Amino acid sequence: MTKAAEATAKSSFKLDVKQKNWLVSAHVASGAIWLGTGLCLVIMGVKNIDAPNGDALYAINEICKFLDDFVIIPTATLSSLTGFFLCWFTNWGFFKNYWVITKWVLTTVAIVFGTFWIGPWINAMTSISAIERLQALQNPLYMFDNQGIIWGGLAINITLLVIIAVSLLKPWGRRLAAKPKKSEA
Ligand code: HEM
Repeated sequence: MTKAAEATAKSSFKLDVKQKNWLVSAHVASGAIWLGTGLCLVIMGVKNIDAPNGDALYAINEICKFLDDFVIIPTATLSSLTGFFLCWFTNWGFFKNYWVITKWVLTTVAIVFGTFWIGPWINAMTSISAIERLQALQNPLYMFDNQGIIWGGLAINITLLVIIAVSLLKPWGRRLAAKPKKSEA
């Protein structure tokens, strides 16, 4: 190893086993809460149309908005952030393994879809039902957004399940094959 390479290796901070386990715990917990809350949103989207009166419909939408703003957004952010630190401060790296790259891509797709489609749909449904109450169920825009939340939410939840399976199975090997040591060359 050259002096420069030695210096780089020494300076790159890595977590010890206990620190890494704490980080993985936060990572798995945030992903699990994201998935569980996402499932609740889909269920509420399905049950929405059975609301007995306008107040109940508005209350369901208001709770969906609260869960989206104060549970899904923070936990999705935390799972990405802890995933980022796991890549940085352990030997997994950012782009060394196909399973890690797959997780980056799928998590980014889920967050982008959630931010630019699902979130605005929930906000629109909450505003519409705040004014129109039970009449919202006759509003085509409201019904379109509701379908979007059910099917879009399902797609995100399935993506999260795939991410969990990929995390545990760690398939497809390394993108960068390990260089053979001098003695093996
Ligand atoms: C930015 C996206 C993500 C990246 C870069 C990432 C990266 C990682 C890394 C490097 C590990 C460490 C594996 C180990 O040392 O054992 C890990 C573990 C794990 N991740 Fe992620 N992750 C991301 C998103 C997610 C999401 C969204 C979920 C869940 C919905 C998730 C679920 C898990 C699980 C369950 C483990 C534990 C695997 C094990 O202990 O073998 N990850 N992740």
